[in-house]
Order: sequence, then C-alpha cells, then structure tokens
Amino acid sequence: MHVGLDLKVLYFGTPVVLVSTRNADGSANLAPMSSAWWLKQSCMLGMGNRSKTTENLLRERECVLNLASADMAASVDLLAPLTGARPVPETKAAKGYRFEADKFGAAGLTPQASERVAPPRVAECPIQLECAVEAVHAFAETASAVEVRVVRAHVEERLVIPGTDHVDPVGWDPLIMKFCEFFGGGANVHPSRLAEAWRMPHQGMASSG
Ligand SMILES: Cc1cc2nc3c(=O)[nH]c(=O)nc-3n(C[C@H](O)[C@H](O)[C@H](O)COP(=O)(O)O)c2cc1C
Repeated sequence: MHVGLDLKVLYFGTPVVLVSTRNADGSANLAPMSSAWWLKQSCMLGMGNRSKTTENLLRERECVLNLASADMAASVDLLAPLTGARPVPETKAAKGYRFEADKFGAAGLTPQASERVAPPRVAECPIQLECAVEAVHAFAETASAVEVRVVRAHVEERLVIPGTDHVDPVGWDPLIMKFCEFFGGGANVHPSRLAEAWRMPHQGMASSG
C-alpha cells in the first residue's frame, strides 16, 4: 500500500561533493553540496543562488568537484554551518550559518594545487574533478543548475582498476547525503548539523554523543 503525501524533502540519496571555487580576492572557498549528477564528461550542480559558491562559479567559470568518501563525514559536517558569503544572508543566519574565510582550515582539510583550474583540490578527497562552467540555467525559483565539464580527473591510485581508466566500484565508498543525513555503505555514519538546522523529524540517527 502506498500513502499519498506532500513530501517536504526530496533528497533521496546523492553523493556529497565539496566544491572548491576561487573568491574575488584569490582565496579559496569550499562548500558541501549533493544535488549533483553526471552524464558523459559533464556534471549538473544544483546550487542555491545565495551561496558564495554560486557567485564564484558565475564569475570565475571554474571549480573543482571533490568527492567525499564515507570516512570524511566529520569534516563535511564541520563545513555544514559555514558560508563564505559576508554578510551572511538572512535566511542562512536564521538557520545558524556563520561566515568563515578559511573553510579548508575550519574543516581540517588540505588544499592541493590543481593542474588546469585556479581553485585548489581537497587532498583528502579520493576523487577530484577539475571543471569548467559551460552554462547556467535558472532552476527551482531560487536556485541555479550549473552545467560544468570535467577538464581533468584525479583518482587515488588504490581506487583505479589496474591498467585501466576506470574507478573500482567496490573500493569507492562515497559519502551519501540522504534526507540531510550522512550515509556510507547503506549505514548512517555521522550526526548531521544540516538535518538539525532543517529540523528534520528523524529518529534513531547516529548520535553526537
Ligand atoms: C551534505 C550537504 C549537502 C548540501 N547540498 C547542497 C546542494 O546540493 N546545493 C546547495 O545549494 N547547497 C547545499 N548545501 C548547503 C551549502 O553547503 C550551504 O549553502 C553553504 O553555506 C554554501 O557555502 P557558500 O555560501 O560558502 O558557498 C549542502 C550542505 C550539506 C552539509
């Protein structure tokens, strides 16, 4: 039997991507996002218009998509209440967001120079995709669908099937954001500040102790 619902959240489970972009002053911004999907050598990113990342993508036309593994949930969660936008937009301030200039430092992550684009990679992410912005489409009233093309991919050696240009799907354990909660290998792996900010009615999730 199915129940007809006016579903409040449609985040069924997508990989967490840390998007690094270049700020106007040359410093780096880093933001977690998960409304992302890939086709051929392109990716579509669903980004809120008020995020610093969107502003940077529109101006600089490049980024790095750093794919987080399930064991990186704690670092991603540290980034969750932060924005590189100053002043902090009212709607974000109401959800407890605060400005942070050094997102890499705040999350204990290491910047690594990219080869084809200005924003740095996240050294801890096993898969890093340097990208160029191809097009930006208005989406969902207050968001943008940013179409990017992968210009250089980097994969940790242990995840590459020897002698090929393919990722080993058994070895790769992506961090999945499901209804604002963090999952890896089908299990809830870490408490989520995003779920807290959104006041999600979940029960039995990983506890913050
Ligand atoms: C796990 C996770 C997934 C998120 N997914 C998205 C997303 O798909 N699109 C988006 O616009 N924001 C998403 N956010 C919220 C952004 O990270 C948030 O707006 C952040 O302030 C952006 O940083 P910035 O303003 O410095 O760009 C997500 C946050 C977390 C923790």
